[in-house]
Amino acid sequence: MKIGLLGHGTVGSGVRKIIDGKNTKEISQLEISRILVRYEKDITDERMTVDIHDIVEDPDIDVVVECIGGDEPAFRYVQAALFNGKHVVTSNKKMLVNHLEELLETARTRGVSLKYEAACGGGIPWMSNLDRTKRIDDIESFRGIFNGTTNYILTKMSDEGSEFTVALKEAQDCGYAEFDPSDDIDGMDTAYKVVLSSCKGFGVLTSVQDIDIYGIRSISARDIAYACTHDYVCKLIGTGIKLEDGVSATVIPTFIPKENLFATIPANFNAIESDSRTLGKMTYVGQGAGSYPTAHAVVQDLIDLVYKQDILVASEVSVRVDNTSRVSSFYVRSINLDNVQGLIEERIDEDTCITKKISFVQLASLIGKLEDSAVFVAEVMHDCK
Ligand code: HSE
Repeated sequence: MKIGLLGHGTVGSGVRKIIDGKNTKEISQLEISRILVRYEKDITDERMTVDIHDIVEDPDIDVVVECIGGDEPAFRYVQAALFNGKHVVTSNKKMLVNHLEELLETARTRGVSLKYEAACGGGIPWMSNLDRTKRIDDIESFRGIFNGTTNYILTKMSDEGSEFTVALKEAQDCGYAEFDPSDDIDGMDTAYKVVLSSCKGFGVLTSVQDIDIYGIRSISARDIAYACTHDYVCKLIGTGIKLEDGVSATVIPTFIPKENLFATIPANFNAIESDSRTLGKMTYVGQGAGSYPTAHAVVQDLIDLVYKQDILVASEVSVRVDNTSRVSSFYVRSINLDNVQGLIEERIDEDTCITKKISFVQLASLIGKLEDSAVFVAEVMHDCK
């Protein structure tokens, strides 16, 4: 199978090294014929080119692997490849989420595959296992730690009592954070992965704008200390629940009982759980980012294409996101606690409380500006299941 590789950065170079290594008989069936790099000065291999036409218009290339990242020109290149009848494997979650409907439609009409295991959960075989589970069960819900950067920050804060800014700086120094860490810490990166998981797991198209998203930008050592003394661990959790006529989809920091598996997920690891009738709860844990783990997921998609193990599903349908019926208790720190007066279950001190059961949507409307640094909200998970 001849491959045109777009991008030779962190993920792209990992893909090239794994495939060129020809370590297994499966990998030996893959051959990278061309590699797109950005500038002439980046050319270090005779397969490299700066001209996208050398790849998307080459009739010998069967698959285009997109590892450029960002929206454009990645979207244009991927659309051109699909349109020209080439399968596409991509690790680019943002581009996928921005154009999912259009890309799936092009793939379907041109009779080719669009595969994106690496875009959600890095090296964790999450997408492919959703496909496998769906051969027997409907996926009823999923939830998980989808973002390594925030997990690293929260773990550092819990283990060492660090303040947020210190832990963020360390995550950046380790190379975990996105170029702009806002996508990580404000929950957008997790939201992209919730959209992709809902698409694969539930067969639905949702908009990231409709998801209730709350990140960890305003968390303080004080919030972590409260969680810790009450036997909770704070994690940023993305959730999707299939409803009769839509889905519930949220990204919210969550205080998790310390005996729960999610509470034990260390450093930059990801952990994602699906729930379905016969399999029950199934959790996948591993490296959600990094050159080789992400490249591993890309190469797995390529090998599936060689062995024609692409599971075709019915067309995805656009659905409504509705989080109003999902209620929970919340930890709230706000200088305006008066706004939630009637909903307080337990007053912790002057500016912190635990609420009665309420939907996040209702809480957000009462609290006001959630991005204010004087406010922090976390869902409190009471049971260990
Ligand atoms: N910045 C992302 C993370 C990279 O920290 O998980 C992988 O999507």
